[in-house]
Amino acid sequence: MTPEVHVVTHPLVQHKLTLMREKDRSTSSFRRLLHEISMLMAYEVTREMPTQLIDIETPLERMQSPVIDGKKTVFVVIMRAGSGFLDGMLEVVPGARVGHVGLYRDPKTLGAVEYYFKMPQDMHERDAIVLDPMLATGNSALAAVERLKETHPKSIRFVSLLAAPEGLANFHARHPDVPVYTCAIDRQLNDHGYIVPGLGDAGDRIFGTK
Ligand code: URA
Repeated sequence: MTPEVHVVTHPLVQHKLTLMREKDRSTSSFRRLLHEISMLMAYEVTREMPTQLIDIETPLERMQSPVIDGKKTVFVVIMRAGSGFLDGMLEVVPGARVGHVGLYRDPKTLGAVEYYFKMPQDMHERDAIVLDPMLATGNSALAAVERLKETHPKSIRFVSLLAAPEGLANFHARHPDVPVYTCAIDRQLNDHGYIVPGLGDAGDRIFGTK
């Protein structure tokens, strides 16, 4: 199986990402741009969503017209930075449910340690869209997806803002069946596991904690 990687090259996404990378951008502007990008990413990641025809009545006549079932989608937030992606996604898919995975990165091993996991009911009926802005080492992403697979969702997709080549390879070595959607694949990771050129610590920049 060849793993799927979708780099969203739409000019609006690329423009907003460039602004987010700038080191002097304010917290409010960074957050707003992430919100806007997440709406655009929602559009890309839901492109293959199945639709069903329902009977409706226009002012002129009856017809059958397609709808998607947003209630069957679950956005899975990898805390904490993943929550910055959530509001924009929910604006576009308001009927979706939301699950949370709490993982922290062990500073020595860079491995992922789980501290929270809560999903909605009926996961086997749901298409899961996992949200984490930075696919860096890939360790949190692959641990989150590993755990998520225990709930047997119908499908899993992964959305990030930025990915490192090492992280993508690491993630897809374990989960070749999970397509990744990202806005850019940067050059590499640095010695601290940060993506370069990157945009710094996404959580700190979203929440203004630095
Ligand atoms: N997490 C971040 O927030 N930024 C990186 O560059 C890598 C991991």
